[in-house]
Parts: sequence; C-alpha cells; structure tokens
Amino acid sequence: MQNSRDEVSHRAGWRWSSPLHYVDTPDFRCNYDYCRDCHDFARSRNRCVTGAIYNYSAQLSTYKNSKFTDQYNLTEALLFLSHFVGDIHQPLHCGFLGDEGGNTIILHWYRRKSNLHHVWDTLIIETALKKYNMDLSMMIEDIRTSILEDWPSDVPAWESCGVNQTVCPNWYAAESISLACKFVYKNASPGSTLGDDYFFTRMPHVRKRLAQGGVRLAATLNRIFIGGYSLLYHLPDDIFPECSSNTICDRENQSAC
Ligand code: ADE
Ligand code: ZN
Repeated sequence: MQNSRDEVSHRAGWRWSSPLHYVDTPDFRCNYDYCRDCHDFARSRNRCVTGAIYNYSAQLSTYKNSKFTDQYNLTEALLFLSHFVGDIHQPLHCGFLGDEGGNTIILHWYRRKSNLHHVWDTLIIETALKKYNMDLSMMIEDIRTSILEDWPSDVPAWESCGVNQTVCPNWYAAESISLACKFVYKNASPGSTLGDDYFFTRMPHVRKRLAQGGVRLAATLNRIFIGGYSLLYHLPDDIFPECSSNTICDRENQSAC
C-alpha cells in the first residue's frame, strides 16, 4: 500500500489490474456490501480489491502443489495477494465513489499540495518516518514491538477468520470504510490544510492498520500453505460471495443504491 502511488496499477501492461486495488461505497455510506460495491467501472462483478483477494487466495490454495498450473502464474498470485491485503487496510482503498477514495480531494499536507488519498497512502508514513531518521526498518521494528506488547490480546481476533475460511476481505473492507468515515474524511475537506493536529490524531490508526495488515497476511499465508493438499484440479465455482440482488453502484448510478 505504501509504495509510491501504487505503481503497478498505473504502469502500461498492468492497467487491467487498476480496479483490483480498491472497492468504493456510494457517497457517504459508511457500510460496505460486496454485492453492491465489488465491480469495476464497466460493472463487471468481482473486479475489486475484495474480489481479487478471494481470487488470488483461491488460486494459491487450489494449485499450490500442482504441476499443472499453466493457466495461472502463482508467483504473480502471491505478489498480488500480498499487495492487496496491504491495500485493503488503507482506509481510503474502501472510500467513497464520488471522490475516488479521496483522490479528487485536493488539499495541503503542511505546505505541500496533495490529495487525501496520497496523504493516507504515503505522506502520513513519510512524516512519521522523520521520528526514525527516515530509517524504515526502525519504524517497522517499533510496530512489531507494539504487536507484541501493546496489542497482544487483539492479535488472535485479527488473525482469525470464519471456520474453513482462508481470508476475510469483506471484514477488512468494512473496517476501512468505517475508519474512513470516522477519522479520514473528518476535517479533511477540499482546500483544507492538514498539519500537526491531523497527523498526531491519525498516526495511531495508521500504525494499527499496518500491524493488522501484516498479521492478517501472515495468518492467511499460513492457512494457505500449511493447510493440507488440495484435491481439486480446477478452481471451484464458488470462490466469490454469491449475489442475488442486481443492484450495482457506480459513480453514475448512486441514487439507485
Ligand atoms: N480510484 C477510484 N477509487 C479509488 C480508491 N478508493 N483507491 C484508489 N484508486 C481509486
Ligand atoms: Zn495497490
């Protein structure tokens, strides 16, 4: 999530993957609904970050021991899965449709012109890094210590997923839009200047989301790779949540939602 501007999604040749990095909700809706929200701009279902996490984790679970994987590139699947579990923990990767998860909210971060999405992808972390003399490994070590000493009683809940479930992206997306409503969009209107007040009150949320993302990725990979052999030769048909309703929301069709 914190690489500069989610580079893969912008690079030619990878543009098909752009919608797989986020899932947005109708404007000002602070809940997330897979069937309503998970689609791309052409309203093609399951093409969003939560759908992508289901897809790539299913590819890895099904084919991890198989010699017959010509159809799938499992290295790519592992890289995408790791990247998307990070993305979904950045609250604005489940933001509002109308402002493209904060991308169109232009404002200042201290004296620098930017947008709210970039503040949460990069600038809060960059500002926090100054405390560690820009040494990323020190910052990571500090978060690791917090996982062990500040949040040990929360970790089992972060790691867990439903019985027989490998990964719970819907849960992570619901947390993200809730945080976006409570803390991210608050006091961050277009044209505003965000500084110390915003930074010091939001930084704890960023640290916790980074910790949750790391713990959940580790737990997910353990479930995929420590779990036994798959007897399947093909991806099962039901890797995505089933949707009976036809309502799909996009930027043009929000009133129907
Ligand atoms: N484009 C549209 N919505 C987006 C989001 N939530 N994150 C990143 N890019 C987006
Ligand atoms: Zn991304």
